[in-house]
Amino acid sequence: MKITPKNPVEIEKMRKAGHVAALTLDYITPFVKAGVSTLELNDKLEAFMRKNGGIPATIGYRGYPKASCISVNQVVCHGIPSAEEVLAEGDILNIDVTAIVEGFHGDTSRMFGVGQVSPAAQTLMQVTYNAMMAGIATLKSGSFLHEIGTAIESVVAPHGYGIVREYCGHGLGRKFHEDPQVLHYANTDFSSTRLRAGTTLTVEPMINMGTWRTHLESDGWRVVTADNKLSAQYEHTVLVTEQGAELLTASPAGYTCWPYTGQR
Ligand code: MF3
Ligand code: CO
Ligand code: CO
Repeated sequence: MKITPKNPVEIEKMRKAGHVAALTLDYITPFVKAGVSTLELNDKLEAFMRKNGGIPATIGYRGYPKASCISVNQVVCHGIPSAEEVLAEGDILNIDVTAIVEGFHGDTSRMFGVGQVSPAAQTLMQVTYNAMMAGIATLKSGSFLHEIGTAIESVVAPHGYGIVREYCGHGLGRKFHEDPQVLHYANTDFSSTRLRAGTTLTVEPMINMGTWRTHLESDGWRVVTADNKLSAQYEHTVLVTEQGAELLTASPAGYTCWPYTGQR
């Protein structure tokens, strides 16, 4: 594993990319409502991202066709936005966007509820958010990479939820995905790897109400839970610093975990 910390000029570009990605999720928030299709959401956020100087990194990435991944209910990740997929009261969904600004990537996702969601779904989303933040809280210059997964698992395990294993967080910079691989479950796979200040990576746990096992659908992208139970995910791009972690994709509107005040 080859982790190369960013220099100050590169870090400034990472901040810009993270800002545009987070701003895009803030922007789309009031449009997430019953009766809207995931394609309409995608097209709106794509126009906004471009207007704000961001290039959607997902378009053409390994042949992916759209500017966002929108993953509804039992979809774990990589849901391709579609005109046929119309949101209904009680749905939960993840919107994941990645903006390229000045050649650097900012990658972030959040959960949304449509109208009133079940208490069980709300708890799943809150625990997933808490798990991401606990993983991020382990980060500082000299921290061990595997502390992230340990912290996430300690938040999730008491609830009996499954932590997805086949998809992980990642380093990023000029490249969308680079070392290190960030595992979200307790592991000792890279137990000797220490992180240095200037490292940029994502923490993006996917947490399932039931089994951690997943199934890749026949479109080659959409990943669903093996038992068809709900799945949730939050994602931040962060910078490792001497003191801790800087959230490069913090919401300019101040949104943290759903429900957001801006959503109607
Ligand atoms: N944004 C996703 C991540 O968090 C990657 C999506 S790749 C795509 O790493 F091709 F599915 F868009
Ligand atoms: Co990511
Ligand atoms: Co992402």
